[in-house]
Amino acid sequence: MPGSRVVELDALRPRLEQVVEFAARQVRSTIERLPDFFPIYTVDGRWSHQGELWTDWCGGFHAGMMWIQAELTGDPWWRARAEHYSKLLEHRQFDRDVHDLGFIFLNTYLPWHRATGDERLRHVLIQAGRTLALRFNPKGRYLRSFVAPESLFIDVMMNVPIIYYAARETGDPALREIADAHCRTTERVLVRPDGSTAHEGIFDLDTGAFLRESTHQGLRADSAWTRGLAWSLYGYTTVYSYTGDPADLAIARRNADYYLARCPASLVPPWDFDVPDGPERIDDSSAGAIAASGLWDLALACEPGDPTIAARYRNASLTILDSLCSDAYTAWNDPDWEGVLKHGVYHYHKKLGVDESVMWGEFFFLEAVAKALRAD
Ligand code: GLY
Repeated sequence: MPGSRVVELDALRPRLEQVVEFAARQVRSTIERLPDFFPIYTVDGRWSHQGELWTDWCGGFHAGMMWIQAELTGDPWWRARAEHYSKLLEHRQFDRDVHDLGFIFLNTYLPWHRATGDERLRHVLIQAGRTLALRFNPKGRYLRSFVAPESLFIDVMMNVPIIYYAARETGDPALREIADAHCRTTERVLVRPDGSTAHEGIFDLDTGAFLRESTHQGLRADSAWTRGLAWSLYGYTTVYSYTGDPADLAIARRNADYYLARCPASLVPPWDFDVPDGPERIDDSSAGAIAASGLWDLALACEPGDPTIAARYRNASLTILDSLCSDAYTAWNDPDWEGVLKHGVYHYHKKLGVDESVMWGEFFFLEAVAKALRAD
């Protein structure tokens, strides 16, 4: 099956270290060129442009890369920048317009709190979890997406962990119930029996009944949008770290097995597995980066019960990194390109960030690289 070649971490390590250095240069130069700006996607390799945002959800990725650099290097310059950019996001703890508060706060205030133990930072995280929980639709038993009250997105699986965090830190059972209900509804309506995922579910607001699958960024309602699949794989893996519920781990494994079965040998997927061969079947490197980081954690979660499966997921993660840490994807040979990782896709149909660098691709690539570098 694809992905069965063995990638040795020791052989890959020098290129991983090069990625850390290159990412440091790119982020530093974005900070200097565009102070206090939070990029989302590039146009012709440039972060600053007038293109539509669709939604403002990426602040935690830019600041999160600064936290990763601060942790990897211990350099006080990175620590100061990470704190500064995180503070710029603090007001978002009350933001009721997005479903992305996990993306924003778990990559900023969580590492900041880990580094300091400062109670005030813990309270920001708890408030962000409480705010996200306000999106709960009690009839449909899901957290509504940013687009409409009747809409549930697979992407929310990456954000629901901040409600688990708030539930754990406060002991509030209502928060835990909301988070659990959201995961079970997502499992029922968006995770398909074969392990693929739908992007969106539409509900009847009067009865709470699930009506149909839908999509915004995938090819079709019933297709396999690969970034959504990666969000589910990584999201359920993180949820498992809070719940210890084997159902959550089993879903992440089904997602992973589907991903690995349909990927090419590089394990970097097209933006949707169902795009026919031809000029529209282009890669989404960001889906690969998310999968690399999620598979790394999934391997750790599987290790105690099944070391053989764990080794397979870990090797898959390293295979993706081996593919991405190359001239084909990493922009180190293009002096005019402002991002780190080329060939991401934001919104194919709206023509936003198509074959460009995208901020979550940048972040999860660096996060996965950092996880591998920290391993013994
Ligand atoms: N809004 C989340 C995504 O584009 O994947």
